[in-house]
Amino acid sequence: MSPTWSTALAAYFNPFRKPEMSPVTLVFPSSMMQSHAFTRLAKARGDRVIAASSVKADETAKHYDYWVYLPSMYDPSFGEALADLIASEGITHFYTPHMVIHPAVKALVARESLPITVCEDPIETLQGQYRDVFAHAQSAAPFIRAISGFDLPEALVASLFHFGEQIYGQTSETKIAAMAAVCAIAPKGDLIEIGSAWGRSAFVLATLAAHFDTGNLLCIDPWAVEIAHQSSDQEYLTQAIGAMDWEATFQAFLIHMLPFGRRVNYLRSTSAQVAALYRHSNPAVSSELGTTSYTGRAAVIHIDGNHGLECIEEDCRLWRPCLLPGGWLIIDDYVWEHGTGPQQVGDALIENERANIACAFVAGKALFIRFKADAVRERLHSFVDSGAIS
Ligand SMILES: C[S@@+](CC[C@H](N)C(=O)[O-])C[C@H]1O[C@@H](n2cnc3c(N)ncnc32)[C@H](O)[C@@H]1O
Repeated sequence: MSPTWSTALAAYFNPFRKPEMSPVTLVFPSSMMQSHAFTRLAKARGDRVIAASSVKADETAKHYDYWVYLPSMYDPSFGEALADLIASEGITHFYTPHMVIHPAVKALVARESLPITVCEDPIETLQGQYRDVFAHAQSAAPFIRAISGFDLPEALVASLFHFGEQIYGQTSETKIAAMAAVCAIAPKGDLIEIGSAWGRSAFVLATLAAHFDTGNLLCIDPWAVEIAHQSSDQEYLTQAIGAMDWEATFQAFLIHMLPFGRRVNYLRSTSAQVAALYRHSNPAVSSELGTTSYTGRAAVIHIDGNHGLECIEEDCRLWRPCLLPGGWLIIDDYVWEHGTGPQQVGDALIENERANIACAFVAGKALFIRFKADAVRERLHSFVDSGAIS
């Protein structure tokens, strides 16, 4: 588990407790961002939160339903004020993300036998989570080495796992590790992602492209309910996608991509519409990310748009000719509980192009295919010669 405050906070309460056991938690100081995050989670569980800080006109007080002033922990009246608050509000728990307040309040509670439970040491919790994410990165090393032939910096893989977890999506650590391995040995060229949603896999590809200086990432997604539907007869999947706020999803994608500046851009369109433009090496321009240039030749293509059979067939047909010699095609959800489109297309591709494929494997439910350098080059030339690329 990578170190998010939300996971640390989730562990703080037992979600299966009986309602009458609901804690009344004092959050102090309320001004820290982690205190806001904790409160959001606690409120979602139906707990009562009392927020406090030692700033009389605390501007963060507005984030809380109930906020009180407490003297500074250095003020001689702090202990008494805390004990009074505990008694008057029936406080049962104390949460602080503050590395100095925690030991001070813990000692005070023990000394005065105050009837509250103090949270775990916030820094110890945090350090433990960072240790965990490094351990995950370490355990992924043999897998990455088996694909790429060498070791990647542990911190790079840990960073991908850590930040990847903050972004909603299905891309697993196994798939992230495989993406890291293939990007490490991909040729220089563009990275194309068909279907980005909140930007979890896009974040991974963007980080890897920057690290290996592979090229710029183009994310293609309409972020529109009428196109986002998956060609699947699974009712719950259709309902869930239909109920999504796609504008909010797009905003989240922007939040996750902004740090990459001009190395990443997006086209709010379908893969089929973009394919024709892409071959002309047109730049992508957006008000948020500026102008990003593309070569019109892709080192890595990640297909994760509409998973319907015809749609993936179309994606492969339109985009595969853009792949550079030695480039990688990733078809997501080759193993998919909602349908068999990705698997059928992946299997047919491998069957039809066996001679052109350098290697193929399934990892984290996705199919990774590397095409042979020479075979891809020959096929591209014949494609150009036939006039299909203008
Ligand atoms: C499974 S989500 C992508 C998840 C993302 N790759 C990740 O791992 O974080 C599928 C996305 O494909 C997009 N999509 C659907 N049809 C598309 C099409 N024809 N062209 C491009 N994107 C499409 C949807 O809007 C949706 O955001």
